[in-house]
Amino acid sequence: MDRPADAGDPWAVSADEFPDDASPETQFAFLVRYAVLAPSSHNTQPWRFSVDDGGVDVYADTERWLPVADADRRELFVSVGCALENLLVAAERFDFDHEVTYFPDGTSDHPDDDRFVHVARVVLAPDGSRSALRGGLFEALTERSTNHGPFYGEVSPTTRGALAEAVTDADIWARFVESAETKAALGDLVTRADRRQFENPSYRRELGEWIGNGALEPSWVKAKLGQLVVTHLDLGDRQAATDSVLVESAPVVVALGSDADTLSARVRVGQTFERLALFATTEGLSVHPMSQVLELADLREELVETLGVETGVVQHLFRLGYADPEPGRSSRRPLAAVVD
Ligand SMILES: Cc1cc2nc3c(=O)[nH]c(=O)nc-3n(C[C@H](O)[C@H](O)[C@H](O)COP(=O)(O)O)c2cc1C
Repeated sequence: MDRPADAGDPWAVSADEFPDDASPETQFAFLVRYAVLAPSSHNTQPWRFSVDDGGVDVYADTERWLPVADADRRELFVSVGCALENLLVAAERFDFDHEVTYFPDGTSDHPDDDRFVHVARVVLAPDGSRSALRGGLFEALTERSTNHGPFYGEVSPTTRGALAEAVTDADIWARFVESAETKAALGDLVTRADRRQFENPSYRRELGEWIGNGALEPSWVKAKLGQLVVTHLDLGDRQAATDSVLVESAPVVVALGSDADTLSARVRVGQTFERLALFATTEGLSVHPMSQVLELADLREELVETLGVETGVVQHLFRLGYADPEPGRSSRRPLAAVVD
């Protein structure tokens, strides 16, 4: 196989570069260039791909897991789900039929202490058709980014309806929170979670490591450092106001959850989130995941109560709205580091 070239800016990948006359393996490796543009917790990019002439194997790289922030490995598998979804969107664009088998080697998230967890086998075949679900999302793969600024505007019922339709798995659900009262309660939860995390030296150390290795984009770091400074100067009321503004001013806060807390559900929540994020991008909307509440077990319970969820678990929380663009793009690891 021709190894995928590290041709400069990963965001500059273009459909024109698709290797039409190359082997399936080389073509599938090209699709991985889109998979790696997916969002991930702390931009850890905790994925690995193995490509052959029949398709792509997708793995979670547990060396890139965040043991403090993500103690139960939920974000690890949600992040890999985002990359899997990008892979499927790209596969459809280049007319590959795809069939996904989740956790083909079993569903342990610590398999014999192996570094890599086999999350999915994606069998790819030519002459596939584009689905209504993913057909319009390809251009957004290179345009999507997380936005940390204030959100404004209103999300029309039509757009909200289209977003709801992208939630297709029977055991995965979305709550679209628009009521001022519930958003105020969510803002309060986020503020309390931020304070607790920044009081925890292990959390600060882990975050510092990922900032130090350059994974996080400047706007992310600025937002987090702003919280850190405020927390440590004990400007509690002002910080509460900042977080409340971010959450309360967002037209919609979306919670994604699953009936059961299985590894497959976490991966499929990641896929669902990424579809919503890509669709939002096509509509000129921005998204911003806010995981701090989900990272603290007791606050996650409170979140379930605040949302009035009767059964199931909340797996992902994000703001949705219109926002001013933020400069710069988040970095990506070289392809050679993630493809076998
Ligand atoms: C599972 C998951 C959890 C995330 N949690 C947060 C978060 O709590 N706060 C935040 O600012 N961004 C969060 N993000 C966004 C990532 O920081 C972002 O995707 C990453 O830095 C790459 O940037 P990009 O999305 O602009 O490509 C999360 C993303 C994922 C997939």
